[in-house]
Amino acid sequence: MMRMQAEVQVKEILHTGAELTDRALERLLPSEDRVPSSIHRAMRHSMFAGGKRLRPILAMEAARMIYLRKAGRCELPAGVEDLGAAIEMLHTYSLIHDDLPALDNDDLRRGKPTCHVVFGEAIAVLAGDALQTLGYQTLATLQCPAKATVEIIRLIAEATGTVEGMIGGQVLDLEGEHSKPTAATVDAIHRAKTGALIRVSLVAGGVYAGGDAEDVRRLTEFGRRAGLAFQIVDDVLDVTQDSEQLGKTAGKDLTSDKATWPAVFGIEASRAHANKLISEAFAELEPYADAAEALKAVARYLVERTH
Ligand code: IPE
Ligand code: IPE
Ligand code: MG
Ligand code: MG
Ligand code: MG
Repeated sequence: MMRMQAEVQVKEILHTGAELTDRALERLLPSEDRVPSSIHRAMRHSMFAGGKRLRPILAMEAARMIYLRKAGRCELPAGVEDLGAAIEMLHTYSLIHDDLPALDNDDLRRGKPTCHVVFGEAIAVLAGDALQTLGYQTLATLQCPAKATVEIIRLIAEATGTVEGMIGGQVLDLEGEHSKPTAATVDAIHRAKTGALIRVSLVAGGVYAGGDAEDVRRLTEFGRRAGLAFQIVDDVLDVTQDSEQLGKTAGKDLTSDKATWPAVFGIEASRAHANKLISEAFAELEPYADAAEALKAVARYLVERTH
């Protein structure tokens, strides 16, 4: 019974969080008929192809948890959906570029043909660039105090950058193809290419809601573990699910000879490690007691999901 209730609760959180994010994105992205329309159509094609919106949801639920502790009200701080939307723009830019022939060369994403397949490589590169600049433009106009806005921009730029950030992780991922992966390399790749953006989504949500240094420390530690667990599960799903279920090409890591967690540890040990990381992550949220329940439910979903 408890478990069923938890499942209903997480479904509701995911659904309302995704809707809120989609509404903000709809408002923030230029319409398809704005000149030059080719790039706006390309940006919207990838943006509204049906992503799970997990990073915005993590950011918003982290903000809710901190806000509940600070202001005593169980609601989202006003305007936090724009923070989620900006993060989703950066994530989608990374997916458009990840799928390019020069990187993973994928033709299916979010159940649709990839951006470069529909619009050509040049527009796909530019659509990724444009989502990145629009992401920062959106961050610059957040409704939180200016000091928090600047800190959020700094943290996100760092987490998507080259030093232990997303771009650095993508470089390690590409350079790790076709060589026998070790535990240390796959750990470094996953923490950087995916873990960093998930971690910063949580931290940025906390900063937006007025979190102090201790809140930031706890959300950072929570996010480190949840972010790594997320990419381990991404690797597991790549070998255990089909393309229809995933909305992207299944089995691609094996054919590209990628450095993945299952390639080093096997599927069962990978799943077990992801679960262990989530339990460890939960321990960081102990002081928040019941206020952390929603965030914990979403983190559990990160490792229990099937796509
Ligand atoms: C996929 O992320 C890319 C990785 C970083 C592993 P998601 O599984 O969150 O993809 P969407 O946003 O739901 O499409
Ligand atoms: C992508 O990792 C990470 C980023 C886009 C930064 P993957 O290459 O494993 O993602 P999928 O499996 O194509 O979604
Ligand atoms: Mg990749
Ligand atoms: Mg890929
Ligand atoms: Mg993958």
